[in-house]
Amino acid sequence: MKERPQTNGNLIPIQASTQSICFACGQENPHGLRLHFCTAQAGESAAEWTPTSFMEGFRGIVHGGIVSTVLDEAMSKAVAAAGLRALTAELRVRLRHHVPPQRQVQVRGWITGQSKRLIKTEAAIMDAEGSELAHGWASFLTVEGLASPELQREPCGPTTIRAASSLSLPLDR
Ligand SMILES: CC(C)(COP(=O)(O)OP(=O)(O)OC[C@H]1O[C@@H](n2cnc3c(N)ncnc32)[C@H](O)[C@@H]1OP(=O)(O)O)[C@@H](O)C(=O)NCCC(=O)NCCS
Repeated sequence: MKERPQTNGNLIPIQASTQSICFACGQENPHGLRLHFCTAQAGESAAEWTPTSFMEGFRGIVHGGIVSTVLDEAMSKAVAAAGLRALTAELRVRLRHHVPPQRQVQVRGWITGQSKRLIKTEAAIMDAEGSELAHGWASFLTVEGLASPELQREPCGPTTIRAASSLSLPLDR
């Protein structure tokens, strides 16, 4: 398994803020997660996320499907940050510890490999102490003519920049 890339703090302030109705990242979807991703460099993404109680499955535990959606989106944004247009073809998630609502977590996605149309990615959700709560692996397939999220050069918020630069902790898995 390829190691999670280290960031050196030289973050590129790019925020994927189009695809306005995207359930995960669309800023105009009132029912969506409205995640803001930034890229540290091509093939990487980062965001901070504070799930709400409405996202619970069991009481006090954010639904695993929502956690999977966030991991999928982090990987999708890492793909987009590499200038690739692709759809998720396969997704695997390890829910290591429950994600609690109302607490901010850090999300990170990165590309681990590419061969022809196939792009391999991983993602992680970490709590404030740096413990990994969930890990995702996905395969994307490039699709010609697919409208990709435009990467807009807008300043990343300081919290997202902190997320991108603080997730280079060693993983215990
Ligand atoms: C992903 C998708 C575009 C691929 O369809 P496609 O372009 O027809 O591609 P194919 O199924 O023919 O697969 C192309 C190649 O990739 C391979 N492949 C497909 N999925 C793969 C995977 N998960 N891992 C490894 N290889 C895979 C196929 O075996 C095939 O190989 P070949 O060319 O050697 O025969 C299509 O399955 C799709 O639209 N799925 C839904 C995606 C989606 O809705 N995702 C959620 C939103 S992002």
